[in-house]
Amino acid sequence: MPRPIILDCDPGHDDAVALLLAHGSPEVELLAVTTVAGNQDLAKVTRNALAVARVAGLAGVPVAAGADRPLVRVRDHAASVHGESGLDGPVLPEPAQALDPRHAVDLIVETVMSREAGTVTLVPTGPLTNIALAVLREPRIVDRVRQVVLMGGAYRTGNWSPVAEFNIREDPEAARVVLRAGWDVVVVGLDLTHQALATPDVVRRIAGVGTAPARFVEELLAFFTASYRETMGFDAPPVHDPCAVAYVIDPAVMTVRRAPVDVELAGELTTGMTVVDLRGPAPDGCPTAIALELDRERFWDLVVDALERIGEPA
Ligand code: BDR
Ligand code: CA
Repeated sequence: MPRPIILDCDPGHDDAVALLLAHGSPEVELLAVTTVAGNQDLAKVTRNALAVARVAGLAGVPVAAGADRPLVRVRDHAASVHGESGLDGPVLPEPAQALDPRHAVDLIVETVMSREAGTVTLVPTGPLTNIALAVLREPRIVDRVRQVVLMGGAYRTGNWSPVAEFNIREDPEAARVVLRAGWDVVVVGLDLTHQALATPDVVRRIAGVGTAPARFVEELLAFFTASYRETMGFDAPPVHDPCAVAYVIDPAVMTVRRAPVDVELAGELTTGMTVVDLRGPAPDGCPTAIALELDRERFWDLVVDALERIGEPA
């Protein structure tokens, strides 16, 4: 049985790859795509999600827009990494489907509440605003969701500050709500995603697929490579967000460790830092876990296989 997921995202180059990976993988069933302001403003990331949906040939999956700002903080986008459009590089096609009229938070709540308890997995790959709002609006989702597998945080080094990762730094109060809700959360942070580098051999493999969606990914990665080199000094860019989807497809693609995770809200230098308690074994019933080691080969196999399965959408 495929695992049903909701992808809550802010495309975003790596969010786009996450969407393609989910769509092309029979192990997951994409129930909905929801968007949140993050890498760019809500209008841009929503348009980008619809464009990627068209490239992927996604049909019958609702796409809904959510929060246009963090719960408390001032908006800050990641144009330095993702460009003015949020998805600079390829020419974006006009959307083929209409935006779902529901607010993303309503769509998330309705979807979780209408499916069998313990089945739906949430995969947030942007700031956690929509997910926190969904918990506040309908707290019963906490017991109904099977798992939350989120891309965010870091237990060593940040990227938006020395210690904070972008998705968490953008809306730390939302992250606090999500991390303290008590549901099963796997935190796929930079410590893991910095192992998912799109090195030239990876880009060659993707190019070898030879389809329009694969060319789209190649163009995304060309821009992402240049921007990560310029802004962060990386030779090859870390493709963060599909790592969270990959974990749902095949948990053996990475090692995880149960550990308490919380987020700093008031630090003079550390706001948005995910604080992970690694001092000993996790207490019984600890609901949070962090991702440690990625099986790189397996991860890129999943991405390439998904692109091959998508083929040339009509
Ligand atoms: C995260 O921030 C965004 O720029 C990426 O899409 C990813 O979700 C990495 O810190
Ligand atoms: Ca993202």
